[in-house]
Amino acid sequence: MYISEKAPAKINLTLDVLYKRDDGYHELEMVMTTIDLADRIDLIDLPYNEIRLESSSGLVPQDERNLAYLAAKRLKEKMRIDRGVSIYISKQIPVAAGLAGGSSDAAATLRGLNKLWKLGLSLEELADIGAEIGSDVPFCVYSHTAIAKGRGEILIPLPPPPPCWVVLAKPVHGVSTADIFGQLRVDEIRVHPSTEAMAAAIRSNDFEAICNHLGNVLEPVTMSMYPEVRKIKDKMIQFGADAVLMSGSGPTVFALVKQESRAQRLVNSLKGFCQHVFLVRMLGILDQRRTK
Ligand code: C5P
Repeated sequence: MYISEKAPAKINLTLDVLYKRDDGYHELEMVMTTIDLADRIDLIDLPYNEIRLESSSGLVPQDERNLAYLAAKRLKEKMRIDRGVSIYISKQIPVAAGLAGGSSDAAATLRGLNKLWKLGLSLEELADIGAEIGSDVPFCVYSHTAIAKGRGEILIPLPPPPPCWVVLAKPVHGVSTADIFGQLRVDEIRVHPSTEAMAAAIRSNDFEAICNHLGNVLEPVTMSMYPEVRKIKDKMIQFGADAVLMSGSGPTVFALVKQESRAQRLVNSLKGFCQHVFLVRMLGILDQRRTK
């Protein structure tokens, strides 16, 4: 049997750090949503006990360092599955970019294997397993606009934001989330974004308020380590974006633009300046019908 599952990228509309916890993780408050840029995960059932993984990208590992591999392994162990799976990842989402590509691949693998092996687990149960794999995996299991708290695993659903264009620009280098959190000094955070104000803006479908309340406390940390991130943000503002923010721990910077013609102009202006530029739609939901 064969299953194909879409794994959409996420962006952070807000990312706040409240404090560093005793377990070494940071207590977070974030508002996250999905965009129309996705990997595709193809799963083929194997009648013997083996997990195989291949990808269209040479940049992703093919063993347990790959979160999709880990997801299959954990699910097999938890549910005592005596079969195997062949996983193929068609990569569209840039790697180590702040867009949760690896987490979304893991989440899509969990959703897909739940169908392939007819396990009958709820999304909530899959999200609980996902939390053991990575902090963003529970969000990606639902891939629905949400407030995320705790390590990222406590989710409060929100309606999708109003439709708009999202221009993504990714510097050449990737970023390690652990490195960025390692450099963060929580008592030195000067401006905290308001999770509640962003949630209210989304609930009232107010694009302008969404633009006004974007904020990410990791942005100054990543910018100080990778000055190119600030340069890209400055260019995006200069070239007419309605609002600009770095996603997650970076280094991808996104611009929100209401008008298609302005979004297209922004893409054209950025192309001479940055190699990896994408023009996508804000989605806000898990839409399995569209393939990209
Ligand atoms: O959970 P995940 O493996 O995705 O996290 C990667 C790294 O990011 C962690 O090892 C930790 O250093 C950092 N992190 C954190 N606080 C969080 C989430 C991640 O410090 N809430």
